[in-house]
Amino acid sequence: MLAIDEQTITDAALEQMSETRDPRLKQIMACLVKHLHAFAREADLTPEEWIDGIKFLTAVGQTCTPYRQEFILLSDTLGLSSLINSLHDRRAAEKGTKTSLLGPFYRQDSPQRQLGESIMANPAGPQICIYGRVVDTAGKGIPNASVQIWQTDDEGVYDLQRNDPSVMDLRGWYHADAEGRYHLRTVRPLGYMIPMDGPVGDMIRAQGRHGYRPAHIHFLIGAPGYRELVTALYLRTDDHIDSDTVFGVTESLVTETVTRDPGSPISDLPSIHFDFQLAAAKEEDASGRVGADPSQITKGTARTSH
Ligand code: BEZ
Ligand code: FE
Repeated sequence: MLAIDEQTITDAALEQMSETRDPRLKQIMACLVKHLHAFAREADLTPEEWIDGIKFLTAVGQTCTPYRQEFILLSDTLGLSSLINSLHDRRAAEKGTKTSLLGPFYRQDSPQRQLGESIMANPAGPQICIYGRVVDTAGKGIPNASVQIWQTDDEGVYDLQRNDPSVMDLRGWYHADAEGRYHLRTVRPLGYMIPMDGPVGDMIRAQGRHGYRPAHIHFLIGAPGYRELVTALYLRTDDHIDSDTVFGVTESLVTETVTRDPGSPISDLPSIHFDFQLAAAKEEDASGRVGADPSQITKGTARTSH
């Protein structure tokens, strides 16, 4: 019989899992156990600290609802979501626009809109135009590409955070024209503090972090034969552009509005011009979404099958 101690326990656990039928599940779990054990050894974790960790994760789970995903928020604030995005980009067959966070406020089935329409039901605050093309890596327009967009209002609040979260606003689903061009109206979003009234907020405060995301606009872009792109555009003049709490900002996604842009289809509004580049899909490409509509996760429909 194996003498279990702080070193042999790792091999003992791996040995019990060695019959796992799915090879990828086996690899992931073995990696997890090795790093989890190494973490406990390095931190010299005490029983009190271990139970505090269990209580924390329990509270994270209990905070999740069809309108709130605290586990995604935890992943985001630990830098894990951003790391998964970088790994996803590295696997692409071609280099397109960089991935950024999907975040916990994405909703599927956002309202279908015509090009040029506003994403906001009752526009309040300074309006802007966003326009450009969805192109392949050779710069050729992708006809009819699907463009989903969501953002906060001019006070930094998402529809899901308003009194009746079932009402959809500040989101829209557009289709590019035959040359891949898109344009839409929206309001200039404000940066915001991530939801701080749950266990992740407690963690952020304990770490002395500010909790802010710089102003940004989310996009989910796709077309048959291309890799789905989850990304966001960030506004350069925001005070927190260099210290995003969830590590979503990267230089190539930072932009600003331009006043009186003669190329803008709505040139009387300050405009952002951005072309999104989609990489060709590889056969084995799975979804690039690090996250999901929170209601789909609580329903259990977002699970991947083995
Ligand atoms: C967001 O951009 O919507 C977001 C991302 C991560 C955490 C909180 C919000
Ligand atoms: Fe956001």
